[in-house]
Amino acid sequence: MLGFLFTSAALAAAIISTTSAQNFPNQSAPYNLKLSSAETALDGKFLWACHSGAAMEQLCISDTPSDLTGIFFLNTTSIGSTVSGFLTGALVYNLPYGDEDDKQIASSALRFAWNPVSNIIFNYFQPGDEGSEIASVGLDADNKLFVPAYVDDVITPNGPEIFYQWQVCHTQFMGYKYQALVWLTVGNPLDGDCQAVNVTAVPASGA
Ligand SMILES: *[C@@H]1O[C@H](CO)[C@@H](O)[C@H](O)[C@H]1NC(C)=O
Ligand SMILES: *[C@@H]1O[C@H](CO)[C@@H](O)[C@H](O)[C@H]1NC(C)=O
Ligand SMILES: *[C@@H]1O[C@H](CO)[C@@H](O)[C@H](O)[C@H]1NC(C)=O
Repeated sequence: MLGFLFTSAALAAAIISTTSAQNFPNQSAPYNLKLSSAETALDGKFLWACHSGAAMEQLCISDTPSDLTGIFFLNTTSIGSTVSGFLTGALVYNLPYGDEDDKQIASSALRFAWNPVSNIIFNYFQPGDEGSEIASVGLDADNKLFVPAYVDDVITPNGPEIFYQWQVCHTQFMGYKYQALVWLTVGNPLDGDCQAVNVTAVPASGA
């Protein structure tokens, strides 16, 4: 149950490496992340941060928002970078660690794990705010989570524009099998067993 409350060499190293200037210092209010989908088994469900390796979490499905593992933030740049008029930055989860009398958090940014032979990108949190794998995301006027991207017209990139290509699939990532949120790059999911969803940030119920 408390498998995510731990200290490991990997986690300590990741935290130590984040003492420099922050890329996304400005943090939103706390949110729960709620799904909407034509698939009734997923519509209205919530996302929570499920353990997926040392100091890594994927986004799994739950019926109700969790106070502990279901709280997320949008961290943005100090200058307030926007795409299509909406703030963009990193989706953040505060990973708890340490013991009862020394509780700590490792602020962890959502990252994309690309696979060159799939159009499914796994989503995972890892401590820190650095690395090209950090997923650039934002919230639109309806608080729907989007990904901004340049639209490549071969010669000159257009854009960026905002996209909503979230799916929930049965994933196998870092040795963990979950029903988890992924990003679809293009086309229909190659890996099957996926449902298109939207992810809406709602004010955190437990915060
Ligand atoms: C998000 O912002 C908070 C508040 O400034 C900061 O403590 C945290 O380190 C940031 N996390 C990331 C991953 O940028
Ligand atoms: C980010 O936070 C800092 C410190 O509170 C503040 O001075 C700055 O205006 C904020 N940036 C934006 C774009 O709101
Ligand atoms: C997600 O929201 C976008 C923007 O409102 C919409 O165009 C799209 O159809 C929605 N997708 C799903 C799976 O509901």
